[in-house]
Amino acid sequence: MLINEQRCKVNIKRMVEKANKANVRLRPHFKTHQSLEIGEWFREQGVDAITVSSVDMAEYFASGGWRDITIAFPVNTRQINQINALAAQIHIGILVENVESLRQAVEIIDSSVDFWIKIDSGSHRTGISWDDQESPIQLIELARKKPKFVFKGLLTHAGNTYTALSKNEAINLQLESISRLLHLKQSLTTVGYDVPEISIGDTPGCSLLEDFSFVDEIRPGNFIFYDSEQFTIGSCAETDIAVGIVCPVVARHPDRNEIVIYGGAIHLSKESYRINGNPSYGIISVPEELINKFPIGSLVVVLPIHSCLTAHLMRRYINLDGKTIEMMPI
Ligand SMILES: Cc1ncc(COP(=O)(O)O)c(C=O)c1O
Repeated sequence: MLINEQRCKVNIKRMVEKANKANVRLRPHFKTHQSLEIGEWFREQGVDAITVSSVDMAEYFASGGWRDITIAFPVNTRQINQINALAAQIHIGILVENVESLRQAVEIIDSSVDFWIKIDSGSHRTGISWDDQESPIQLIELARKKPKFVFKGLLTHAGNTYTALSKNEAINLQLESISRLLHLKQSLTTVGYDVPEISIGDTPGCSLLEDFSFVDEIRPGNFIFYDSEQFTIGSCAETDIAVGIVCPVVARHPDRNEIVIYGGAIHLSKESYRINGNPSYGIISVPEELINKFPIGSLVVVLPIHSCLTAHLMRRYINLDGKTIEMMPI
């Protein structure tokens, strides 16, 4: 995966400045790049708190000196001992959304941990529904029995912004998500439960919104690279996309105005554009007047549809000077 380091640093800078201006904590999601070296580009710009999507990833970044990590996935109770060991060394945040997993976590974890209640503000992937006031109360009450469990607040990922067909639609979905969290915060506060913080995070919403009033933390991840999906939504300009996959041309079909590249689902992920109604992996339609510009053996740079998935599949980066940048080993 080819990476434009300068572009990544500009993308980071823009989000850091936006967070500073709005006086919110930026806790970027590092599952996008999964690289200690790239993590340093954030650190150079003042970032000291991060988000990851697994306990293994938390361990990897802890080994690189990161001391404040939220594992932004409903807590995996099979890894509670690992979380406990990590929480003894650094500041760890976990996500809970049901009494069953919190009970198991409370029983075993004896180091200090922050816990966030994961709220479903409209994306319907995980979390307690934003209009359910009772379930958060049960969780807060249960955690009170163990003072080392610190209730940090309500956290959501408005993944439904990815369905937006325009910038305005993405902004409206993000605003709806925030207002739902605020509604829940207000109703909990009214019955005596303090909600210290609100954490949101998704690249379309965080890229497009300027005003983060009422929010304490943002956790976008994809924005360091962006991709053609973000460009289609309107969250970035094409020139903001900082990664591409370099693919050799291996076959040509001028009669159909098509070239075939060595690069398909296992490199780029199964997310695909459709050609003549069929998902197409590795087949590229080329305008007739350009087809001769792609001889066999020439190279095509493909902008990924979803850069997080493509990076995960490629497992390393090459910068524009030809230097390899490693990712977390699997
Ligand atoms: C809980 C959580 N927070 C933050 C993010 C980062 O969002 P994005 O990939 O849109 O930048 C994700 C991505 O899946 C997530 O699941």
